[in-house]
Amino acid sequence: MDIRQKFLNYFQRKGHTLNASSPLVPIDDDGTLMFVNAGMVPFKSIFTGTAPIPTPPRATSSQTCLRAGGKHNDLDNVGYTARHHTLFEMLGNFSFGNYFKEDAIAYAWEFITSEKYLNLPVDKIWVTVHENDDEAYELWQKHISKDRIMKFDDKENFWAMGDTGACGPCSEIFYDQGAEHFSGKEDYLGGEGDRFLEIWNLVFMQYERDAEGNLNPLPKPSIDTGMGLERVVAIKEGELNNYHSSLFMPFIDKLGELVGMPYNYSTDNSASYRVIADHLRSCSFLLAQGVNFDKDGRGYVLRRIMRRAIRHGYLLGLREPFMYKLVDVLVETMGEQYSYLPQRAESIKTSMKLEEERFFRTIEDGIKLFNAELENTTDIFDGEIAFKLNDTYGFPLDLTEDMLREENIKLDIDAFNKKLETQKTQSKANWKGTGDAAQSGDFKSIKESFGVNEFVGYEETTAEATVLALLDEDFKQVDSVDGKGWVYLSKTPFYAESGGQTGDSGTITVGRGAPSPTIKALDTKKFLDMNLSEVEGSLEIGDKITAIVDPKRAEIEKHHSATHLLHAGLRELLGEHIAQAGSLNDDKRLRFDFSHPQAMTTKEIAKVEAWVNDKINRNISRKTEVMSVDDARDSGAMALFGEKYGDEVRVVSFADNSVELCGGTHVNSASEIGLFMITKESGVSAGVRRIEAICGNSAITEVNTLRNSLVEIKTELKNQNPIAGITKLKEQIKTLKVELQTALNSTKKELTASEINGVTVIVDEVETGDIKELIDEAKNKYPSVAIMLFQKKGKKVMI
Ligand code: SER
Repeated sequence: MDIRQKFLNYFQRKGHTLNASSPLVPIDDDGTLMFVNAGMVPFKSIFTGTAPIPTPPRATSSQTCLRAGGKHNDLDNVGYTARHHTLFEMLGNFSFGNYFKEDAIAYAWEFITSEKYLNLPVDKIWVTVHENDDEAYELWQKHISKDRIMKFDDKENFWAMGDTGACGPCSEIFYDQGAEHFSGKEDYLGGEGDRFLEIWNLVFMQYERDAEGNLNPLPKPSIDTGMGLERVVAIKEGELNNYHSSLFMPFIDKLGELVGMPYNYSTDNSASYRVIADHLRSCSFLLAQGVNFDKDGRGYVLRRIMRRAIRHGYLLGLREPFMYKLVDVLVETMGEQYSYLPQRAESIKTSMKLEEERFFRTIEDGIKLFNAELENTTDIFDGEIAFKLNDTYGFPLDLTEDMLREENIKLDIDAFNKKLETQKTQSKANWKGTGDAAQSGDFKSIKESFGVNEFVGYEETTAEATVLALLDEDFKQVDSVDGKGWVYLSKTPFYAESGGQTGDSGTITVGRGAPSPTIKALDTKKFLDMNLSEVEGSLEIGDKITAIVDPKRAEIEKHHSATHLLHAGLRELLGEHIAQAGSLNDDKRLRFDFSHPQAMTTKEIAKVEAWVNDKINRNISRKTEVMSVDDARDSGAMALFGEKYGDEVRVVSFADNSVELCGGTHVNSASEIGLFMITKESGVSAGVRRIEAICGNSAITEVNTLRNSLVEIKTELKNQNPIAGITKLKEQIKTLKVELQTALNSTKKELTASEINGVTVIVDEVETGDIKELIDEAKNKYPSVAIMLFQKKGKKVMI
């Protein structure tokens, strides 16, 4: 039985619930983590007490983790050590305020040493504890002799997921691979070498670190452990390097075929094989999970990993896309455990190939520029060149740094940053939004005085409220507004722009004498979670008002609900790799961006449109439930990558056709959407497509316009079938053209030519026809000719 399964079985037998591996993008993403970087991440809100403790309070998992970008970043090491990976599987057991150090240590010991499980030789095991953790030091002595327990400080033996969150002292288990194989100066316990291989980390989760860096004790001390599957598999297979185990060799062998040179550990270029084998896994998993190549954020980390791999392919002599050819091998080796890999294999390949083609276009010139600069460099590489490599040739900064590390050259990072800053300032100067003013606006003091106002607009479209605060157009607090400004109401029916749904407009009626003045609400936005509306008119703090949402909200809702159905339809018909990459819903149209490697065919577009219309026609009721993020996840609700959700989320569903986490407002039943029409499908950026569509009144208007044009066309064509009429017209044009040409040819003037000293000379007047054409004809006719033609054009003469 494989090691992963043995581990999970062992802990299930010890009363732990089996949890499936979560996606790499944290599902309850609170913006603190780029990727899931440890097995405990899916449980972090349980550890910190914001989510309830499950029953039983124990869990086990084999979690895929990604350590590239963010606090735990192993990217630079990958390929050069025997044990680092960007993507790896972490086997873990977790106790939520249940058992603590004693049992955690006993379980770990039994699992690694027992014959039934890992059966590792006891004399090769070493452990480390935190220098202040006497308890762990004592407990370990029940299993292993004191001289093999080492104490280390915070740097080695204190574990934290990120800069904030659950953390605690830890105890690590090491496996000694033997001095006979490793004798470098870093090959001691705690050194950087590969001899002492850390296989399992037991974290005694006791604290939560807050934003100020304070360690606050957790209500219930817990256990989080993580064992690196790749390391243990290598040990059990007798390999000294993770990459030589059965988990990686299939990729390396296939790559050897593509390169035309089998892998050989002792050659200089062997690291390139390992880098590619590693990066293939992380890039494929990210793509399969809907992350796409991008200029920033997670998509940029993906691009950095991918381009690092491509460059190593280039070093191996490859000059065209190759990574995508390794995907099938990945599917063969990991597809059983991760079924989305085979399901999305084709889409992974297409996206990879596109990115490879893009980078192969510039890599050669980039490398030439790099090498030329390297020749002029003795110790510090010019930061401006690194910038140019990035900006013009698509070399991510860390790729250039990687290349420089190989040459033992440092980078003038200040010069790079300076160039980057200048570029940013320039692009900012070209973009003037409310962003900056909003940053420095008086929102904090308003929030401190009044807290967050309630949005009552899910149920109501009018509300009576009090004006709590007013801001001028520069977001500075004022006592009254006369003209344009922003209002903060005690409660509001106006929806603030978010999740793609446009902000509400409407009217505000003030009860100050009669006739009651009416103020326009132009737009509504969120600032520090508070809903504020932009207004035009005159308002004072303390005014009692009635806020009325513009009826066009109904149209906005139709487009928003249609977007949900569209999203679901795309996933149903094109595949589950479809992930939302942006959306916009207003009263006239919707726009939906999504990951998909190629343009949709006309047939696919028609199918998706029909799928959505079918759901509308079935008149499915909309259901909205408020629940915890975990319950939402369990219900299979689609969450958006990179979107922030609170502890309580709204789950909007149209039966089980579409279930999505969403804070927006929606129609009550699908039939309100009316007709749904896709108006355009286009590309936004690499691997991201855009659908524009309309529904509700917009669709009716569009259908009417189309019908009217058709009626006009028919009238013009004297009520013929338009297609037959147009075909007939086209034929007529064709015939007329031929007739016209014949007529022109027959009236074409013969130019009068004479010969002077062996040269043909033409001086003539042309009444009609194309002078240039006549000249060309004469040039073809005579070997040597001088021509001067005159043509009257109204009162002018052309010569
Ligand atoms: N969270 C700890 C680690 O990542 C143990 O799982 O090492």
